[in-house]
This record gives sequence, structure tokens and C-alpha cells, in this order.
Amino acid sequence: MKWSRIAVFASGQGSNFAALAEAERAGQLGGGRIELLVSDRPEAPVAKRAEEAGIPALLLRPKDFASRELYEAEIVAELQRRDIGLIVLAGYMRLITPVLLTPYAGRIVNIHPSLLPAFAGKDAIGQALDYGVKLTGVTVHFVDGGMDTGPVIAQRSVAVEPGDTVESLAERIHQVEYELYPEVVRALAEGKVELEGRKTLIRE
Ligand code: GAR
Repeated sequence: MKWSRIAVFASGQGSNFAALAEAERAGQLGGGRIELLVSDRPEAPVAKRAEEAGIPALLLRPKDFASRELYEAEIVAELQRRDIGLIVLAGYMRLITPVLLTPYAGRIVNIHPSLLPAFAGKDAIGQALDYGVKLTGVTVHFVDGGMDTGPVIAQRSVAVEPGDTVESLAERIHQVEYELYPEVVRALAEGKVELEGRKTLIRE
């Protein structure tokens, strides 16, 4: 199945959002089109980036809603209005409930700055440094109900260098993210990612 109409969800800086928007502009997302930014933090820098890129944004504060479910129901309504086929989480720092997960099962992906299942959750880069691993990296995976637990689509490694700080390691991890995410989103938009159980395959 092809999922060319894409919504990107982000909570913070939005550098991955910007990399995806730039990839689309450069013709590197195949048929993929970013139709919407969704953010749970209207004041976040990513909102400004969407405005600059001319991409419509749905900016909602979860605390303005009586429950997480009502917040997500509002998002789902907008996604359906825009006929969105694929949800791309790019630094969206919230767990997703069945209200969003059920209608978009198998059509939500996330990027995480570690080689999952190592260092799931918050501050993955700090966790890896504190643990003392020599190799960490980036994972793109399908989203299920857990925290960073869904089937892995792609991974790329990044070496930890002596003297690395969270900032220096994050810088190299980000550079890998900006390459890997557009490649995977393109494959998804073109219907080239197969999922069977926990195993995925990107067809040529
Ligand atoms: C990215 O490094 C992404 O991998 C991470 O948040 C950062 C967002 O940066 N996501 C997670 O940790 C998800 N658990 P950005 O807003 O500049 O794209």
C-alpha cells in the first residue's frame, strides 16, 4: 500500500522535521508529501519551521482537553479531513493512545536516537554515554502501544568516541537521522516496506 500523504508529529526543535521537508523539496521523498505538522507544544521551534516551509500546522495543548483521548480524537479528525496515510513521529515526546493507534495501526513510525532495544525512553543519548557503550546509533521503527517497542524498520550505528559529551554525540547522531529518516519515509510512501510479525523488509 502507498501512503503518500504524510503528517509529521514533533514536540521540540524540529530538526528532523526540517530534514524531511528539505528532502521533499529536493525530490527525495518519492511520492511522499508532508501535508501537516502536528505539535503538542505550540510554542516549540518546530511550529516556526512549519510556517517557514509553508506546511500547515495543527498546534494543540493537551492540557486544554479533558483527557488524552479527547486530545487525540481532535488530531484524528484533522488527519482524516486531510486524508493522511502515514504518521511520522519526529521527536514527538508523548505516548500514543489507542484513539490514534487503532485507526493508524501499522502506519505510524518513529525515530529514536539509540540502537533499540537498548536505551529506550527519555535521554537515550545520555543513557548510552553513562552506560559506556562503544557503539550506539539510530533506529526507525513502527509504533505500537509500548515505549519504543515496535518492529524495527532500519538501524544505523554511530561510534562513541573518547571524550564525547551528550552534545557532541547528539550532533553525530542527528546527522545520521537526517539521512536515514527521509530514506525510510520514502520507502514507506512508495509502499516498499513489508511487515510480517516483528520482521520488516524494505524492498528494492
Ligand atoms: C531526535 O534525536 C529524535 O531521535 C528524538 O528526539 C530528537 C528530536 O530532535 N526522539 C526520541 O528521543 C523519541 N523517543 P528534533 O526535534 O530536532 O528533530
